[in-house]
Amino acid sequence: MSSRSGIASLSNEAGYSFSTSAIAAPKRDRKADVLLSSESPGERRWGHHFVGKVPLSLSSSSLASMPQWLRTGFWRSHMSSSVYSDGAAYVRGQFVPIAEATLPVTDWGFTRSDVVYDVVHVFDGCFFRLQDHLDRFELAMAKRRLRPPEDRTTIEAILHRCVALSGLSDSYVAMVASRGKPKVTGSRRPVDCENHLIAYAVPWVDVVPKDVQERGAHIWIASNPRVPDASVDPTVKNYQWNDLTSGLLEAHDAGFDTTVLCDAEGFLTEGPGFNVFVVKDGRVVTPDRGSLHGITRQTVLDLCAELGIEALVAPIHRSMLDEADEVFLTSTAGGVIPGARIGHRILGNDRPGPISLRLKQAYWSKHEESGHRTPVRPLEAEAAE
Ligand SMILES: Cc1ncc(COP(=O)(O)O)c(C=O)c1O
Repeated sequence: MSSRSGIASLSNEAGYSFSTSAIAAPKRDRKADVLLSSESPGERRWGHHFVGKVPLSLSSSSLASMPQWLRTGFWRSHMSSSVYSDGAAYVRGQFVPIAEATLPVTDWGFTRSDVVYDVVHVFDGCFFRLQDHLDRFELAMAKRRLRPPEDRTTIEAILHRCVALSGLSDSYVAMVASRGKPKVTGSRRPVDCENHLIAYAVPWVDVVPKDVQERGAHIWIASNPRVPDASVDPTVKNYQWNDLTSGLLEAHDAGFDTTVLCDAEGFLTEGPGFNVFVVKDGRVVTPDRGSLHGITRQTVLDLCAELGIEALVAPIHRSMLDEADEVFLTSTAGGVIPGARIGHRILGNDRPGPISLRLKQAYWSKHEESGHRTPVRPLEAEAAE
């Protein structure tokens, strides 16, 4: 089923347009607003997302920090949800269809990759670990001295709104802080730039395709090293991807699905969009260096504690890959992704290993629990408040 199918555009009595899903014979789960199709994630949309008057529900303190346009009926002229079916974005203070979310070519976010970003997923109509992603995003902005005008509460409201506008119940949701353009023409001083926030929600993204996840990824060990931590802090999620992309090009040339990079000393780091774990004799290890502190990585470490699996964060020399029983990858864009091959080594029976599969299953089960779930605020609920 195409994610575009079944979206009909209608108007309510006030003349605002809204969309409603016309997917045949939808199953409803326990949350009244969520449609379930047989395909998931990435194929489902909110059953309906009616549009009302001023559809934000925020406390008075958060309202105070919010620009005037966000507090008023700005939305009314931007209410045709069907135009958002490929995704919704927030850029330069406006919500626009994803195809219209553009940047000036002089923005340092483009010319210098001078951004920090974060990605949270929405699964089954709920953000997963949203507050942890916002924490990491705030920390990254502070480390890079990026200060867009929106505060945390406003950013959170914008993320909700992007997803609600898109109508997606499974979504890849990005928040990006860009250095922006210098206010003083020709200035080379970062402090002269007008920092700004971009956010968007698009259909679900997997860093490794689903069929490859099922079969077990074939993971290439890149010949180029990861950029040193002292040069680019890997705990700040950033757009410096040249080393990761070089590894990926090499992997694809060699017929592999994806790649992991080691540092210049030969210690395992991470890959393009994911952390890496090695399993040996029932023990799970993830690198202590060269890596983002992934939220999925943390979820796996938490799950290991719950399941009684020994887990540690420690140096992993690439020679350990010759001994590994299993290797798996972790990412918001896909969860726990088992490997079946690492370099030219076949792991186990060339299929996902038992601990990887156990953790993968436990990871998705975690999405059922209330602890880390934040339901996306439907537009009509926001309007009612
Ligand atoms: C370089 C890199 N490492 C690791 C990860 C995994 O982090 P998380 O689990 O928070 O998605 C990502 C996510 O995009 C990433 O870009």
